[in-house]
Amino acid sequence: MQLSLDLPMCAVVSDEFTAEQAAAIGRREERLIVTANAGSGKTRVLTERFVRSCIDDGIDPSAILAITFTEKAAGELRERVRSRFVELGRRDLAQATEAAWVSTIHGFCMRVLKANAVTAGLDPAFEVLDEGDARALRAAAFERALAAWLGVEDAVAVSSGTAALHLGVRALDWGEGDEVLTSPFSFVASANCLLYEHARPVFVDVEEETLDLDPAAAAAAVGERTVGLLPVHIFGYPAAMPALEELATRHGLGILEDACEALGAVDSEGRKVGARGNLATFAFYANKQMTTGEGGMIVPRDGDEAARLRSERNQGRAVDMGWLDHDRLGFNYRLSDLAAALGVAQVEKLDSLLTRRAAVARMYEERLAGIEGLRTPVPGSGSEVRSWFVYTVRLPQGADRDATIARLAERGIASKAYLPCIHLFPNLRELGYREGQFPVAEAASAESLALPFFPAMSEAQVDRVCQELAAALGQAPLPA
Ligand SMILES: Cc1ncc(COP(=O)(O)O)c(C=O)c1O
Repeated sequence: MQLSLDLPMCAVVSDEFTAEQAAAIGRREERLIVTANAGSGKTRVLTERFVRSCIDDGIDPSAILAITFTEKAAGELRERVRSRFVELGRRDLAQATEAAWVSTIHGFCMRVLKANAVTAGLDPAFEVLDEGDARALRAAAFERALAAWLGVEDAVAVSSGTAALHLGVRALDWGEGDEVLTSPFSFVASANCLLYEHARPVFVDVEEETLDLDPAAAAAAVGERTVGLLPVHIFGYPAAMPALEELATRHGLGILEDACEALGAVDSEGRKVGARGNLATFAFYANKQMTTGEGGMIVPRDGDEAARLRSERNQGRAVDMGWLDHDRLGFNYRLSDLAAALGVAQVEKLDSLLTRRAAVARMYEERLAGIEGLRTPVPGSGSEVRSWFVYTVRLPQGADRDATIARLAERGIASKAYLPCIHLFPNLRELGYREGQFPVAEAASAESLALPFFPAMSEAQVDRVCQELAAALGQAPLPA
């Protein structure tokens, strides 16, 4: 029986995906896609009707893929169509129906995800999941894998780095009237997480070279209401944790480390960032060292804290509670099973991803040495190792950054002013922050330019960016 996938027939009777998506999936799967959630109520009736009409039109049932949420629904649907063919006296089609076309949503999603992952150059080492506790199982596997990689007891997977920071602030009981010392040179989430709980971010300046929280500036800023430190390992450079911990001990402060950009960094004492026994957060958005699409992780300080974090990420349910039982305020900060499955595969190749990023950074450093007045990011000093997140240079004094960005864009190269200072965003100005308060951070913010950076970047691509940057800055071509 001939099946023409040039003109894919697809009935989409749920909002899981559009007709175009279904058609595209149909081509890839070499199946006619019928519907997502073909196992429920009205959808099932429509699905059955569509399936029968396809088969009546002479389409081999094995070319049809109906998608349901559960194995049970899959079985039921298959049985209803099969028995209808028996009633019609079409035993051949009834038999073909048995052999064909029903997949659970998990199996289906994993196959699509796998295909996408292959296209994106990721390792497609996924397992196709069963129903039931798949989400919790995958999240737990991801947690174990990352904790083992970091060398910590436990880690709690959440839906984003911001969610991890928010739960971290709550775990430390920071709230109304509390002040937390943090960096103005960061992504806005490291300050927002304090505002969510009505704590006040008190910004202090950063170090010139590392752009991380300056321990001396932090020491000078400790006041009566100071309850904690929230250092950010910015651009993957390990913050000066020994000095900050000493400050915290002296004043009885809590610590929440924002390591969202720093998975794989190593600090001045040779310890992996996030593994010092403080609460620490990681993020897995697509631009990070490893990705789950969206996702985050928080390293707890002990078992009780881990239990609280797991409960708060899951609507305030303890692990042994039913779906409609809640014993505290909680959130939906769960990491989806699909994201967690990606995470497991990414942890397996994390070392090679980090090595590749470092190699691209080295290529940049070598090539950019030829541009006068340009400052490149330091890879690390002593035992410190930067985990390369972005590649951000400081433009020569007097260079016009906007014009540089525009000239690079004309030559097909994307670049970005990176990062704006948090204290100058309108809602933080309302707390009284102004220009000129944090000169080191503000100068870095005014001069920094992020260049294209990704693990698969070739030497030729790096070279092209560097040549174009030299030209955009009005400098001579770099030697070959
Ligand atoms: C320093 C820093 N903190 C927090 C976050 C928030 O992570 P997410 O985007 O996963 O919420 C990011 C993300 O870019 C970040 O760079």
